[in-house]
Amino acid sequence: MAETGRQEVVKIITEIVATVTNMHLYPPTHPQVAPLVDRVYQSITALLEASPELTLIIVDEDIVFYGKPLPGVGPAGKALIKLLAKKGIERITLLKGLPKEQLFGFLNDLASGDVKTVASRSCIKVGKVSFDGELDGEADDFTEFRNTIIADLKALYYGIRSGKKFAIDEVKHIVSQFIENFTRSMNPLSLLASLKSEDEYTYVHATNVALLAMSLAEYLGFSGKPLENIGVAALLHDVGKMVIPDEILNKPGALDAEERTVMETHPLMGLQYLTQQADVPSLALIAAMEHHLKYDGSGYPHISDSWRPNIVSQMVSVADVFDALRSKRPYRGPVEQDKIISILRHESGKALNPELVEHFITMIEQ
Ligand SMILES: [Fe+2]
Ligand SMILES: [Fe+2]
Repeated sequence: MAETGRQEVVKIITEIVATVTNMHLYPPTHPQVAPLVDRVYQSITALLEASPELTLIIVDEDIVFYGKPLPGVGPAGKALIKLLAKKGIERITLLKGLPKEQLFGFLNDLASGDVKTVASRSCIKVGKVSFDGELDGEADDFTEFRNTIIADLKALYYGIRSGKKFAIDEVKHIVSQFIENFTRSMNPLSLLASLKSEDEYTYVHATNVALLAMSLAEYLGFSGKPLENIGVAALLHDVGKMVIPDEILNKPGALDAEERTVMETHPLMGLQYLTQQADVPSLALIAAMEHHLKYDGSGYPHISDSWRPNIVSQMVSVADVFDALRSKRPYRGPVEQDKIISILRHESGKALNPELVEHFITMIEQ
């Protein structure tokens, strides 16, 4: 990166410090805050247009950028070093494609006295500097752990397809590991996986829905066995998709009426499959069957006019809709978080339980 980039970085540091200072003084929704976030977001995106990433490393009293200390960062530089030291951060990497809400959440974490450890996000990596210069942070450990879960789940789903015995113990093990590895201080959104290839969608989606549904359940006060069962139910909600042909499952476009009918059999297929397995919690059977049944009783499969989905199926539905929208699909890009929130609110009382929607939004915006 050219020397001119260094001036830009100094400007960004000054803007970050100003924004965090204001976030500390005012509530995050205060009109004073938004324009400051917009300004720093614009400066960062402009810089990331020229370079795929921006890494700052703190070495003693210096902020190092591309191997050299930044000159002339002055009081803003000192203030940033202090802010980061409080959270134990020695290194920040911002990546191209950084969404504004991620930057907002990160700056908010820096400003908040309640947040002890700031989690990495998909486009903001934070951590300590180890001797080999690699990142060493809590959230990165989680990323690695989560990726092994996705691989396990993929193996499990393939096993189901090839008629191998279903390993419920493995599913329960995955869930208990999730419960052990995530802490309430992490915003669940920072833990979600992104798709690397389209055929991974089912596993990545199942993992994300489980993380979101468990976070919501924990947020609502569930713990112990019920929380574990909710995790199992969420992880297996789409298990019926394993009998849907790949051409329909991974079709790079909207489904036609006939394909849609096949696709819509997956809740009952899931129920049928899980009913035949031993030791599956009944909540998993219920959620597999009901997760496309809407709060107002519409949706599929139609059971009876008066039938309403179980509260756990309703939690899975909120997580399901959220993750489906935030994921990039062959026929559309990922939906922005603000837009997803307005969709959730629009569906509140119709497809989704209004109280769960509000709790979910509060949880992800904290
Ligand atoms: Fe589904
Ligand atoms: Fe789903």
